[in-house]
This record gives sequence, structure tokens and C-alpha cells, in this order.
Amino acid sequence: MVQVVLVGAGSHSTTQHAPSLQRYVAEHPGRARLAAVCDLDPARAERAAAQFGFARTYTRVADLLAAERVDAAVLVMPIPAILPMLAPFLERRIPIEIEKPMGTGIGQERAIAAQARAAGSPVMVSFNRRFTPGLRLALEWARAQGPVRCARGAMLRSGRVEPDFIWGTGIHLLDALCGALGPLTIPQGAGATVEGPGGCWRAVRLDGPNGVAVTVEILPACGRTEECYRFAGDGYCVDVWADAAHSWRVEGYRGGKRDLFREAAPDEPGFVSGGIYHETAAFLDAVAAGRPLPGPTPDEAMHGTSWPRRCKRCSAAATLSSAAWGAGSPVPAMSLLVAGRESVRPCVRAPGVDAVARA
Ligand SMILES: NC(=O)c1ccc[n+]([C@@H]2O[C@H](COP(=O)([O-])OP(=O)(O)OC[C@H]3O[C@@H](n4cnc5c(N)ncnc54)[C@H](O)[C@@H]3O)[C@@H](O)[C@H]2O)c1
Repeated sequence: MVQVVLVGAGSHSTTQHAPSLQRYVAEHPGRARLAAVCDLDPARAERAAAQFGFARTYTRVADLLAAERVDAAVLVMPIPAILPMLAPFLERRIPIEIEKPMGTGIGQERAIAAQARAAGSPVMVSFNRRFTPGLRLALEWARAQGPVRCARGAMLRSGRVEPDFIWGTGIHLLDALCGALGPLTIPQGAGATVEGPGGCWRAVRLDGPNGVAVTVEILPACGRTEECYRFAGDGYCVDVWADAAHSWRVEGYRGGKRDLFREAAPDEPGFVSGGIYHETAAFLDAVAAGRPLPGPTPDEAMHGTSWPRRCKRCSAAATLSSAAWGAGSPVPAMSLLVAGRESVRPCVRAPGVDAVARA
């Protein structure tokens, strides 16, 4: 029985991770147990324990680790707290899932990836788009039709003018495309910074493996909230909508006719349609079976997060491939392109923007 603990019982944790853990335990009797929840704020820990069924509460991770047998941990910490929290879990080789982004900037991101690599302890990063039911269904259907030749990702938001939008949220889009297609590269001169409120607008052309052409739009303050992905190949095309404001929907066309239409059930909870439940299930299934975690690992996740700042000053082809994808080490161009951008400010919440809308 996997003894799982949750560290951090704030907003994202109690709306997404805790209900996912609770559902997993209910749907897999005897496989996992909610051993404990920990938060600096005792009232938050108590509330989460009462609502989701954690057996015990703690306010200090050191006390939790001293008292409990822990087989898996989900860390949903404020961004600057992720890196300082890793060591005790890595030392004990406890499989962990950590939230994105991996720290306050590229410097912390690299430190997290290096620590995980050096410890050889299992770590996965919560990039929940990879696990949304709609995207998974769309990819499964597309792959059954034939090779993907062209893909598109678009992230549209309203009033998101925080300067760290790409670091905090835009990375979801890139990670989802990297997860779907594999390593992506930026052709010379293809990255474009678009003028727009907040300064985080991007329109970029990327190259995928086997000649897949990819276009990406990130428009954080364009007055509409939508996130969609398109995968097209010979005789087929599938679109999937998956974002925090709408439930997922998939439409696949073949030979000019709609061949696939699926959408989330009206009562599907946000933590399921947004992917966190399936991510949690994949994490705990792997721990229970002693398998490698489904990922992305910090090394894999790093390549989805590096490109947005790289493309701004893209002077050379820069690859997003990673050692884990078997494509060698990170490209030298990266250090040049992120020069002077080693750290970004922690998330600034724009007025009137709630935690869910930030996703
Ligand atoms: N994947 C997504 O779409 C998405 C969406 C929102 C937030 N997030 C991520 O989730 C994380 C948490 O965000 P949030 O908005 O829920 O923050 P929050 O401030 O609401 O919650 C963080 C909680 O961690 C607790 N905490 C801080 N340091 C601690 C420590 N050392 N030990 C135990 N508890 C500690 C705080 O008391 C607080 O309750 C962030 O990393 C954020 O980037 C991801």
C-alpha cells in the first residue's frame, strides 16, 4: 500500500491535487493511503485532512518525514519554496511530483534538474496538460490515422498582463507539444515577439521530429480565453480544446467528414478534465508497480521552459531536445539566448485573476 503525503495545502493543492488523490484512493482500494498532509499553516493542513481524508497533519516536513513512512509525495509549494524543499525527499529516494514552474527562473530550474539527476531519485513535474483526457484522445486518434505532419498550439487569455506569464503559464502549451511530438527546434529567425499588453505575446514556428511543422501562438491579453491544439496528417485533422475555462472537446475529421467527436461530461470535475487526476493516477500507478514515473522528468520539463526566452533573441537554431529524448545534451545556444535572464520574478497575480484562471 503506497503511503502518500501532500505538502502544501493552498489553493492549487486543494482544488486539484488533493481531490485527485482522494479519488485515486477511493477508486483503487488497497493500493494507496493518504498518510498525511503538511502545511506551514496548521489550519490549512487541518482543513485539507478533514475534507480529503488524510490521516495526520504536520506543519513541518522534517517532523512528517521523521514520523511517517512515506512512499510517494506530492509537493505543491510556492514557486520559490520548491528547490529548498527537495533535498530531504531526494536523500530518502522518495518518488515525488513537484509543481511547475521549476523555481523562479532558469537558474533554479537547472539546480532542480541537476539535484534530481545527481540523486538518481524519481521526480516528475506536474505538467497537467499532458494528461488531459481530450489531448490524450486526440493524439491516440491522430496516431492511428497516420504520421502527424503539422501541429499547432494556441494559448489565448484575457487580461493576463503579468510579466512572467510565459514562465508561469505559457510553458504548459510548449510542454504539451513537446510531450505529444518529441523534441522541437526553433529554425533560424523563426521566433517572433509580438507587440501586446504585458509583453509576453509570441508567435513562433518550430520544427518537430520527422519534419513535423509546428506553429505556436501565445496571446495572453487578447480578450478571449481558449487553448487549442491541432494535429494534421494525410487525410485527417484533429482539434482539441483544453483549458481551465472550458471543458475539453475533441473533433477529428477524415476525408472531409467528422469522424470523431467527444467532449467532457457536463459533470466532469475540473481536476479530471484539466488532467491532474490522470497525472496523479499515472504517478501513483508507477510508484505502486515500482516502474519509472511517467514524467516529464525535470530534465525533460526544462526544455519546454527554455524556449520562450530563447526565441525572443533567437539568433541560431536552438533545439528543445533533451538527453532523455536521446538527442544529446542541451544546446550551447541556450546559454547565449538566456544570458541576462537567469531569474524571473515570482508569479504576480493580476487583479481579478483567480488561481484557476491562471492555469
Ligand atoms: N499546473 C497549474 O496549472 C498550476 C496552477 C496554479 C498553481 N500552480 C502551482 O502550484 C503551486 C502552488 O500554488 P498556489 O496558488 O496553490 O499557492 P498557495 O500560496 O495558495 O499555496 C501554497 C501553500 O504552501 C504552503 N507552504 C509554503 N511553504 C511551505 C513549507 N515549507 N512547508 C509546508 N507548506 C508550505 C503555504 O502555507 C500555502 O498553504 C505553485 O508552484 C504554482 O506555480 C500550478
